[in-house]
Amino acid sequence: MKLEIAVLSGDGIGPEVTSQAVKAMEAIAHRFDHSFTFKDALVGAIAIEKTGNPLPDKTLQLCADTDAVLFGAIGDPKYDNNPSAPVRPEQGLLRLRKELGLYANIRPVKAYETLLDKSPLKRKIIEGTDISIYRELTGGIYFGEKRLNDEGTIASDLCEYSKEEIERISHLAFKAAQKRRKKLTLVDKANVLESSRLWRKVVTEIATEYPDVGLDFLFVDNAAMQMILNPSQFDVILTENMFGDIISDEASVIGGSIGLLASASVGDTCCMFEPIHGSYPQATGKGIANPIAAILSAAMLLEHFDLMDEANAIKEAVEKALELNITTPDLNSLNPLTTEKVGDFIYDYILNPEDSNINF
Ligand code: IPM
Ligand code: MN
Repeated sequence: MKLEIAVLSGDGIGPEVTSQAVKAMEAIAHRFDHSFTFKDALVGAIAIEKTGNPLPDKTLQLCADTDAVLFGAIGDPKYDNNPSAPVRPEQGLLRLRKELGLYANIRPVKAYETLLDKSPLKRKIIEGTDISIYRELTGGIYFGEKRLNDEGTIASDLCEYSKEEIERISHLAFKAAQKRRKKLTLVDKANVLESSRLWRKVVTEIATEYPDVGLDFLFVDNAAMQMILNPSQFDVILTENMFGDIISDEASVIGGSIGLLASASVGDTCCMFEPIHGSYPQATGKGIANPIAAILSAAMLLEHFDLMDEANAIKEAVEKALELNITTPDLNSLNPLTTEKVGDFIYDYILNPEDSNINF
């Protein structure tokens, strides 16, 4: 298969981890005889620095013209504590999601057998956890009208959803549940929010089209508690934009490191793949960032194009690295490897899974 991929590595550790993901895809192209072409473009703080715009037109055009986007991370501390900054790196990512119509963000969370003792949560709590979070990504409070009164003393962010916005991601979530353990949990705050009540109504209606999927509902506060008390009860979680943002960071604790969590953002015509972690500025250039979330995002890209053997080859290489403790300091305090070394192992393993001489 021929694929043209836009690479938006962004800020902080973004470039370091994304280059390992590109490397893993190059190994896949070689082993399975595909042709992947990578085209770099600017986004985030680095784009503001170079062009004044966190999402330059050229970048957006490239993303629209290519088959898929591989995204790194964005964000720089110099914007975080400056509420009056006229442009912010995050605006680049949010606009990209909106312009490309990436309404469904899929975040898998898994407790790897070999990492059960790395999580701060007890082994017996997290064992068997395998969740797929479907987070709505282009609506809700992130994109509703924002207001600040003239005195700068009253601010508001509107959380708005239409029936259509709820329907399109719900169908994807139900279809995913059908291929998994056939359970879908809608996370909302329907005891308080009108928008949540609309979610419940629409999702309940859609559920009749998927009679083999069991549907239940959880208020987001309870869901946050259940996520650390009994995460293996979940199969597919469906939720709105902000709840999904929060719940997915919380869920990352289960796997032992946020540096393991990948995501896919899909719409009707475009798709983008990115680790859920941020730009981790303190780690920039130190070679300590975990490249696995970025590498697994590349696996999700391959899955999206139905390249299942190829995606599995990446996942097997990652699982081997975890099993052999070929990991960065977030998972390995005794004998940590660098970002690049972990990427090298995964690259070599993809090319040569049988070669037991791989020596690390
Ligand atoms: C994420 C991030 C973004 C979000 C930020 C960087 C805008 O936290 O992808 O989860 O809130 O969606
Ligand atoms: Mn987030």
